Amino acid sequence: MQKIGLIGYGSMGSMLIDAFLSSQILKQEEIIISTRTQTKLELLKQRFPKIQTVKDNRLLAKECKILFVCVEPMEVKRILDEIRKEVSRELHLVSIAACVTIEYLESVFNGKVTKVIPSVTSEVGFGVSLICHNSKVGSEDALVVESLFNAIGSIKVIKEKHFEIAADLTSCAPGLISAIFLEYIKASLPYSDFSPSDTEDMLVSTFYGTAKLMQERNLGFNEIIKRVATSGGITERGVEVLRKGLPSLFDSLFKNTLEKHGEIKGVLKTQFNSNLRTDL
Ligand SMILES: NC(=O)c1ccc[n+]([C@@H]2O[C@H](COP(=O)([O-])OP(=O)(O)OC[C@H]3O[C@@H](n4cnc5c(N)ncnc54)[C@H](OP(=O)(O)O)[C@@H]3O)[C@@H](O)[C@H]2O)c1
Repeated sequence: MQKIGLIGYGSMGSMLIDAFLSSQILKQEEIIISTRTQTKLELLKQRFPKIQTVKDNRLLAKECKILFVCVEPMEVKRILDEIRKEVSRELHLVSIAACVTIEYLESVFNGKVTKVIPSVTSEVGFGVSLICHNSKVGSEDALVVESLFNAIGSIKVIKEKHFEIAADLTSCAPGLISAIFLEYIKASLPYSDFSPSDTEDMLVSTFYGTAKLMQERNLGFNEIIKRVATSGGITERGVEVLRKGLPSLFDSLFKNTLEKHGEIKGVLKTQFNSNLRTDL
């Protein structure tokens, strides 16, 4: 049986395995995985004994029809060079690495390529996975990959040129939102005896409730503000402060994150350029 392979059992590799199995879109028997640190695979085997684990990425590449590359962006080229002679022409390569473009991947692998940026929130079945396929991915192959990610949240198939800003709004957002909330908590502390963790509990519960209310009642952010910020009231005063101060902060946030995307892509371009385009 040709399998679904993963190279890299880190934060995202482990999240994907947990999510694919708990959503029942995949069975343990359908998965094969390799990673750098073998002890990690031993622990995985204790949890999921029917998952096939292998020590050698090349061995894994031979066995699978879809291969998820779940390693750090700077490792992707090395992995592709390592496995390129072992894979079949029919392999569907799925890279989840930030800033590794389809063009870079195609410079090493001249076959079916999909770029996906998942979100850590898929661990609990929510969040958006961003997807873009190359021209060699037919509708059936596209559907298979899209179904996997649909099972663990929602998907958005986008043009590759939109990946950077879309990633800032999806996969980066849990980190960015957490940083915003930590400042919210910090600024409130001088006004009470609440501990940071009490304050965090209050905010998380309110944040979760707000998202649930929006989803279940089909409300937008403006409607939520209208429901809470009564005219001449306290929330209205706070919203005014945020509307004045936040635009320049978010401008700076996007300028910086987009610049960083560019920097990483530049380094990766040098790595991938050293490779001549070669058919497998
Ligand atoms: N974290 C996110 O929210 C997120 C969201 C979207 C996309 N991504 C992308 O997902 C990718 C993985 O991110 P991550 O957060 O999961 O990173 P991570 O926790 O550092 O995991 C990377 C994994 O790759 C393994 N690895 C590295 N080189 C390898 C090699 N030569 N052979 C086999 N395995 C190798 C590492 O193994 P060892 O642990 O044994 O060293 C590690 O388990 C990155 O490219 C990132 O851009 C991440």
